[in-house]
Amino acid sequence: MPLNTSFLAVLLAVLFTALLARAASADPRANYLLHCGGCHLENGEGTLPEVPDLRHDLDWLAQTAEGRSYLTRVPGASQVPLSDEKLAEVFNWIFDTFYPPESVIPPFSGEEISHTRGLPLWDPLSARDALSRARYQTPQLSAEFTK
Ligand code: HEC
Repeated sequence: MPLNTSFLAVLLAVLFTALLARAASADPRANYLLHCGGCHLENGEGTLPEVPDLRHDLDWLAQTAEGRSYLTRVPGASQVPLSDEKLAEVFNWIFDTFYPPESVIPPFSGEEISHTRGLPLWDPLSARDALSRARYQTPQLSAEFTK
């Protein structure tokens, strides 16, 4: 029976490795660490001023359609070799992990990301500035500007 025993051991080892690989690729934290953490660091703090801190100031962006579109279109996110579903999971993991439970952030879905991710964003920093300025514009001011 020694042959059968070693065959069984090899089979178990192969199955175990396959299971581990699946678990790793299915885990949004692992995907964050692999694809985002190199720049934004493990705890999301980034390296200011070049790489933004993901732990603050994204929640209000995730509450408007324009802000959500921007988040999924920054080059680091839009060009990552992950499916729309996996990228949505990474964003949901970021908000679940770095933001307090009381921040109300509608979860991202692969379907949503599939509509925004491919739209070009030539100048992320200007887009971010425009969103920040629009955030504090009163409705009266906006009406003035759009005349
Ligand atoms: C090569 C470094 C790098 C990688 C990898 C990277 N990013 Fe970024 N990220 C940046 C830089 C730099 C910016 C600032 C905007 C710009 O210049 O693209 C940024 C901006 C962002 C922003 C906007 C932050 C804000 O405050 O406006 C988000 C959200 C973001 N990244 C998410 C991600 C996610 C999610 C991943 C992984 C899927 C990722 N990034 C991977 C470097 C990176």
